[in-house]
Amino acid sequence: MRKASIMVDRDFAIGEIDPRLFGAFVEHLGRCVYGGIYEPGHETADKNGFRQDVLELVRELGPTIMRYPGGNFVSGYNWEDGVGPAEKRPVRLDLAWFTTEPNTFGTNEFVDWCKAASIEPMFAVNLGTRDGDAARNLVEYCNHPSGSYWSDLRIEHGWKEPHKIKFWCLGNEMDGPWQMEYKTATEYGRIAKEASKMMRWIDPSIELAACGSSGRNMNSYGSWEDEVLEHTFDHVEFISLHTYFNNYADDLPSFLASPDIMDMFIDEVVAIADSVAARRRSSKRIMLSFDEWNVWYRTRRSRAERVKEGWPVAPPILEEIYNMEDALVFGGACISLLNHADRVKSACLAQLVNVIAPIMTETGGPAWRQTIFWPFAQMSKLGRGRTLRARVESDSYASNYYDPRGAQDLYFPIKDTPYLKASVVADDKGGLVLFLLNRDLEQGVEVSVDARNFGNLKLKAAEELRDDDLKAINTKTDPLRVKPNDLKDVRIAGGKITIALKPASWNVIQLEA
Ligand code: AHR
Repeated sequence: MRKASIMVDRDFAIGEIDPRLFGAFVEHLGRCVYGGIYEPGHETADKNGFRQDVLELVRELGPTIMRYPGGNFVSGYNWEDGVGPAEKRPVRLDLAWFTTEPNTFGTNEFVDWCKAASIEPMFAVNLGTRDGDAARNLVEYCNHPSGSYWSDLRIEHGWKEPHKIKFWCLGNEMDGPWQMEYKTATEYGRIAKEASKMMRWIDPSIELAACGSSGRNMNSYGSWEDEVLEHTFDHVEFISLHTYFNNYADDLPSFLASPDIMDMFIDEVVAIADSVAARRRSSKRIMLSFDEWNVWYRTRRSRAERVKEGWPVAPPILEEIYNMEDALVFGGACISLLNHADRVKSACLAQLVNVIAPIMTETGGPAWRQTIFWPFAQMSKLGRGRTLRARVESDSYASNYYDPRGAQDLYFPIKDTPYLKASVVADDKGGLVLFLLNRDLEQGVEVSVDARNFGNLKLKAAEELRDDDLKAINTKTDPLRVKPNDLKDVRIAGGKITIALKPASWNVIQLEA
């Protein structure tokens, strides 16, 4: 068994964790909306068509904010198509996913669904095929109380009270050639700045996020953030980041190391944002919105393949089935987010239901939890308070993570990947939560924790997520094949905590004062 240690001091914190760190994402894509959160006629559907079995799992998952309506979809979306009497709404071809969009679910239905789920809505506006004019009209429709064309139309549609949407994304992945009307940094920077000015003139209380790169592997990464922030620095609160982890190379140690690249990505974007601030001698700090992250690679398909399928409505696409390996990588990403609580003030797991999702459904059938459901639910429930500045000593290994983008083959070597990846969160009652990932596939790790100034902590609960078969999955017929179990080997003596972690395991330990 390897040995590792963690030292934390109550007075040394990275930062306060913003509850918006635990967000997720609903896009008009595949069966995320239709057959996912919304399925009139399903035996559990309420009068609005909201599946209650899905809502129950969403409540257990615990997302705090929900991004909508895309994603790539938003770059061709006319929001006006999704409001007003459902029978009069146009059916449109969606060029993001080569499907047919019935528009029977739209802005107001989504806001109602968020209310039912007690989740804050986060809206993205179309800065692909549309512009600042459509964006400011949407803010007026949603947030202006009454007495203007768009706000009165909302009232006429049956929503008297304004929706008070606070968080707005200025487009989606505008650096990506796959995006409808993607842009250069100069073109996007200008349109994002002008849109944000008008949106905020309508409602000064909103918060705005500019698009950063759609991945750290993009050619324009770095210069994109720099130029976009040059244009938008005075007008936005956030810059976005997106990451999808993959194991195309079938190299599990490197796949497990990939969340460390997320750490680098965050540190680099912070550095770029702060350099833009420095050039302006500004004390303003742009925060990070990690508004798409997950494992995704098995169900990626080219447009050429998708176009052959003939414009289906809500087809089962991007329905990635997550195994135990994916849950470990996913847990590593949760740790990366918690450990950057000072600057990542919002993040969205992409996505929520069916589409690269923690929750799966059968249309007309049941709903169940995928393996990745568990680390997210634990992080959202227990990752509340302050992340402490943990000093982690662990053996490490060398990895070489493969992350392709289009025709390019990109490798990202990491010389020192610690076997133990850890985050320590202090709650406001003097207790601690340890999130621990053992990336060693063969050996366990004995972790000794020195929690200075915390006095005599007591064990409240300890859980591990692991499986002898790393390819194990949850299915409709075996929905709890992979689930957390009690972690037995936690010892506390003389203020020292010792925890024995199994190989390839994700662990959450709650200690109380
Ligand atoms: O989440 C799936 C897709 O991934 C989103 O639509 C897009 O923004 C990203 O490329």
